[in-house]
Amino acid sequence: MAKRIMVIFGTRPEAIKLFPVVTAIRQTNGVDPVVLVTGQHREMLDQVLDIAGLVPDHDLALMQPGQSLDEISARLLTGIGSVLDHEQPDMVIVQGDTATAMCGALAAYYRKLPVAHVEAGLRSGNIYHPWPEEVNRKIIGSMADLHFAPTETAAVALRREAVPDAHIFVTGNTVVDALHWVTDKLRHAPERANIIAPLEARFAGKRIIGVTTHRRENFGSGMADIADAIRTLAARDDVAIIFPVHLNPQVRSAIMPVLGDLANVALLEPLDYLNFTRLLQIADLMLTDSGGVQEEAPALGKPVLVMRDTTERPEGVAAGTARLVGTDKNRIVSEASALLDDAVAYAAMAQAHNPFGDGHSAGRIAVIISKWFTDRP
Ligand code: UD1
Ligand code: UDP
Repeated sequence: MAKRIMVIFGTRPEAIKLFPVVTAIRQTNGVDPVVLVTGQHREMLDQVLDIAGLVPDHDLALMQPGQSLDEISARLLTGIGSVLDHEQPDMVIVQGDTATAMCGALAAYYRKLPVAHVEAGLRSGNIYHPWPEEVNRKIIGSMADLHFAPTETAAVALRREAVPDAHIFVTGNTVVDALHWVTDKLRHAPERANIIAPLEARFAGKRIIGVTTHRRENFGSGMADIADAIRTLAARDDVAIIFPVHLNPQVRSAIMPVLGDLANVALLEPLDYLNFTRLLQIADLMLTDSGGVQEEAPALGKPVLVMRDTTERPEGVAAGTARLVGTDKNRIVSEASALLDDAVAYAAMAQAHNPFGDGHSAGRIAVIISKWFTDRP
């Protein structure tokens, strides 16, 4: 009988990076997926489920506006635990570093179920950047049986923490699988990017800067500085800014009042993955504190200025496509202006690199899991 693999996720980036894994498990002999979404995010999660055509087996619908870390974690642990008791899967998969992933792994560990960790081994070395994700990821690493490291750098970090070699698999990052899937759809039907298409016409002839921000460690002065920097950049008449604003109320209250009144700044609701990928394709430059965007931009050859002090994804910086600029207003403005004004510096960064994967990571993960069970009759 096929082993039942419970795939647990709850936020937008987890959904993007795990829908290819669910598909791959479905296509692999000996394993069947059971999908549990926690609803840590609601609208932003549903956008991905819709596009991927994924119907969860369980939806805990846990999100509450302005949820604190301890409130969401408590609801996650008890909610996931009761579904595990009901379903009794053979293995649990979590991805990355969110509260959902950490509580999913913990609930599985409490039941002595094997845990597979997708995107294992990313480390910034600073427990407050990203906060609380650096520690979430380390906690999951201490409980996982299978560690799917996206890159050799991540595998080295796991070995340094004494994870046995036989439990580490370098698979690439499934975000590249997702990106290939969506760029393929856009190639055949670019008009599906129905929100970006009119903006392309409205801002024709301008240099496009795409922006996202949502990190908790940037709340307060960091996000105020980011908003000021974007306002200053928008004073240039050769640029237009396209900024899908995260639904976190702390983000919206920092961004909307500062940038809401500018003709060349389009503040948008969060974009579905088709429209966001289209934004990446048309952007000259991305400004972001997102983890996933740091992986997608290099894959598409788009320079990305990372508005953080540290990164657990050094591969984009090493490849030359990403640069850490922090949240200081003057630094963001000067680094972005330098790229816009210096064609040589721009060309040096705008090189497509794919240090994060080849688009076949999910298939590798499914096969390794299936084999893990056949090796243990
Ligand atoms: C979470 C993850 C972070 C990930 C980010 C992706 C943790 C600790 N952090 O942070 O690692 O990078 O998601 O975006 O798990 N909201 C909505 N609708 C949505 C989504 C969010 O209204 O679809 C609002 C709600 O008010 C919610 C708030 O945003 O309470 C914050 O969401 P939450 O998941 O707690 O934190 P993020 O900052 O999004
Ligand atoms: N993304 C999206 N719509 C948006 C902004 C981002 O689909 O409006 C995608 C983006 O392509 C990436 C993921 O969401 O794959 C990143 O999510 P987020 O920045 O919220 O989280 P992080 O990656 O920092 O954990």
